[in-house]
Amino acid sequence: MEHHKSLCDIIIFGGHGDLSFRKLLPALYHLYKEAYLSPDSRIVVISRRDMTQAKHVELLRSKMKEFLRDGEYDEEIFSEFIKRIVLCNIDFDNEKSFEHLKKTLDKEEKRDRIYYLSTSSDFFGSICKSLSAFKLIKSNSRVVLEKPIGRDLESSQSINKEVLKYFKENQVYRIDHYLGKDTVQNILALRFSNRFFMPLWDANNIDHVQITVSESVGVEGRWGYYDDYGALRDMIQNHLLQLLCLIAMEPPCSLASDSIRDEKVKVLHSLRNMTPEDIRQRTVRAQYKSGSINGEPVVGYLDAEGADKNSNTETFAALRVDIDNWRWIGVPFYLRSGKRMSKKNSEIVIQFKKIPYSIFPNNGNCITENKLVITLQPKESISLKLMNKIPEITEQMRLQQVDLELNAPKTNVGTAEAYQRLILDVIHANPTLFMRLDEVEAAWRWTDIILEGWAQNFTTMKTYSAGTDGPSASIQLIAQDARSWYDE
Ligand code: BG6
Repeated sequence: MEHHKSLCDIIIFGGHGDLSFRKLLPALYHLYKEAYLSPDSRIVVISRRDMTQAKHVELLRSKMKEFLRDGEYDEEIFSEFIKRIVLCNIDFDNEKSFEHLKKTLDKEEKRDRIYYLSTSSDFFGSICKSLSAFKLIKSNSRVVLEKPIGRDLESSQSINKEVLKYFKENQVYRIDHYLGKDTVQNILALRFSNRFFMPLWDANNIDHVQITVSESVGVEGRWGYYDDYGALRDMIQNHLLQLLCLIAMEPPCSLASDSIRDEKVKVLHSLRNMTPEDIRQRTVRAQYKSGSINGEPVVGYLDAEGADKNSNTETFAALRVDIDNWRWIGVPFYLRSGKRMSKKNSEIVIQFKKIPYSIFPNNGNCITENKLVITLQPKESISLKLMNKIPEITEQMRLQQVDLELNAPKTNVGTAEAYQRLILDVIHANPTLFMRLDEVEAAWRWTDIILEGWAQNFTTMKTYSAGTDGPSASIQLIAQDARSWYDE
């Protein structure tokens, strides 16, 4: 299919950072290769480091080879793609250095400009101020803010306030790459284009929901950054709460960006604030110790290079969350996320209630509750677990659980695809999959209470061995409600 080819300048602050090399540049490479970007579009990579053009090409070539998936790197495409990339040397602490960017951008003054701020959010305000001082913000400019924005409600409000001095809210794209994943969008399709689920999607029929995002990787050379945040701020405040919103939201009145975001924010406002007792009973935080993953030894979080041995940052968090509204009252949502766990797995499990009464003989027939399992990674799949008769001739009928696959499962799904979709949405000025200011604030308002409780040690830090599924306290968290984590 022939695409509309967009012409714009994309300026990446933190262009030589981890995210840029791992996700943003590979995503742009794909957009270029698949002809979504006009060949005249430019990608301005902002870095503090100055280097010759030849060295820069070499650096990007090696990063692309490292981070594109097997078979995706093509020297011919790379040599065309690299022509679109301009290196621009800026030191954020020295406003004068923005002169370099002005010179580059002013050559194509009328173009849409997308400023992608992939730096620590502490720099967002000063970058926007400098862009404004050099008159680099036009009505057709947009700014993308990487998460997490701040470390709590107060810092997030002050950063957003700074950015909004220079950009209007409709020019600000707060990114959460989970919203760009195909299966995440499929949740909307599944829920709102099928009659089938409509009468079942509530507290009368659903027993509970589980959302797990586990990673086998550690902090990947970003110890210092990660240690300032931890699992609750890095994953739960944004990715997992966004997934929860999509599962729990009421039907929006249209696909328009504000309709969807209005419904998501209502869910965030309905999250029950935790009391100190809830924090004790319903939250778990833990750090990984040494262990082994895929047969390889792995050092503990506190023994990693550059680690502060006294760090009190969690690499795992699990919570029981309650939503106080008509649809969900009494249906717990169990959330957990951690680094250095046994495997990479992002999954939502919607477990339906038991049937009211079984007419089947108790001859080993174990009727398990129906489940809808939505897997985002490492494969994308949506599967409904149903009971069925074993096809055999026996005196007494026997049952088994079968999987009904609701889509064609796709394996080896990468994060770059999510970035590809979201960058394209920014290029097309479509904010639907981005977070509005009130959403980010509502998520922080709720999370802050837990962070404060943890700071006061309402829940002590647990440990778990690398390569396991987290601490035993996480099993107890769900077992105390007579439930267990889903494990196929
Ligand atoms: C990022 C977090 O937002 O998401 C990382 O900052 C995490 O710590 C990553 O590794 C996980 O993304 P994905 O798409 O690989 O699950």
